[in-house]
Amino acid sequence: MAPSNQTAVLRPPKKEGAEISSNPTGANGPPKRILEIAYAFWRSKALLSAVELGLFTMLAEGPQDLATLTRRTGIHERGARDFFDALVALGALRRDAQGRYGNDPEFDRYLDRRKPTYLGGLLEHLNVRHYHNWGLLTQALRTGAPPSDGVGNYKALHDGHPMQEIFLSGMTAGSLVAAQAIAAKFPWRKFSTVMDIGTAQGGAAVEIARAHPHLTGGGFDLPAVEPTFTRYVDEQGLSDRLRFHPGDFFSDPLPRADVLVMGRILHNWDLPTRKMLIAKAYRTVPPGGAIIVYDPLIDDNRSTDAHCLLSSLNMLIETSGGAEYTGADCEEWMRQAGFVEVNAEPLGDMHTAIVGYKTL
Ligand SMILES: C[S@@+](CC[C@H](N)C(=O)[O-])C[C@H]1O[C@@H](n2cnc3c(N)ncnc32)[C@H](O)[C@@H]1O
Repeated sequence: MAPSNQTAVLRPPKKEGAEISSNPTGANGPPKRILEIAYAFWRSKALLSAVELGLFTMLAEGPQDLATLTRRTGIHERGARDFFDALVALGALRRDAQGRYGNDPEFDRYLDRRKPTYLGGLLEHLNVRHYHNWGLLTQALRTGAPPSDGVGNYKALHDGHPMQEIFLSGMTAGSLVAAQAIAAKFPWRKFSTVMDIGTAQGGAAVEIARAHPHLTGGGFDLPAVEPTFTRYVDEQGLSDRLRFHPGDFFSDPLPRADVLVMGRILHNWDLPTRKMLIAKAYRTVPPGGAIIVYDPLIDDNRSTDAHCLLSSLNMLIETSGGAEYTGADCEEWMRQAGFVEVNAEPLGDMHTAIVGYKTL
């Protein structure tokens, strides 16, 4: 049979020379990866809406049937069954023989608001900010400027902006795994004090201090962050060891401590600012002190870790000069500032820490 016009259009023209595809056999298979990537936001939004509706917190009380769950979440019955069953198919919920829904254990542990392991603050932040802002990616790519109102403008964010609370608690949730890994992996017994620079609620300082009762210190951030920091640290029972230090890292000296932590700070700013902050940290820590930087670092080959490269595009959307960078970049900036024994430490989530020491 002669090929129809439609078939001829769909068939790609034969290429001369080297094949660029990293999966040459895939060219003859179904467009699996294309469809997976293209539809990924459907899955993502279903999960974000489930958190927004408090679904996992409700189901943490025990299994519930369709009618009860529909009523308690306040959603319309037209989409309810498909919504809950889609979450079953995604592995977020389970459905028992009586048709009652329950949480998958992972989702129960991290998305029940009443548990101390709650990570939903991160998803709430993704839902209200990033999901909307990523719709503006093409515009950001065309202009090279942030199309959103940008969290890069921190002073405006903290000046009565309705997004401030959700941003700050989103930071705590987003740093939790990284902060616990830093608490576990770094040789804290050799040090007495820690200061978290750009601390937000103090999430990293809290995890480190909780794991190491001999440590004291606190967090440094813009003055408007103080009430949120104080409340969070108080709730965690650590206000006797962690104190808020108000200031602006562009104009003020950093508070002194044996170890300075800069978590998800450098990626917000351009290269001269990153180098300025590392140099300031070097002047601040005593001989024998250390700096710990963590960010979603791009792999040195800039090809394998899609999340971190996409995170760099998130900085394009959110800030006027920020971007992610590689571990090799950060190691070089630290050595230039004077730090020695600089090394990288993966943190078990999408973040990597770079640690450097000041010679005794
Ligand atoms: C992306 S958040 C990171 C929060 C936290 N370190 C973490 O990893 O979750 C950046 C933080 O830097 C703070 N910040 C921004 N500009 C600052 C400045 N000029 N001086 C001090 N802190 C600043 C912000 O208020 C915000 O809390």
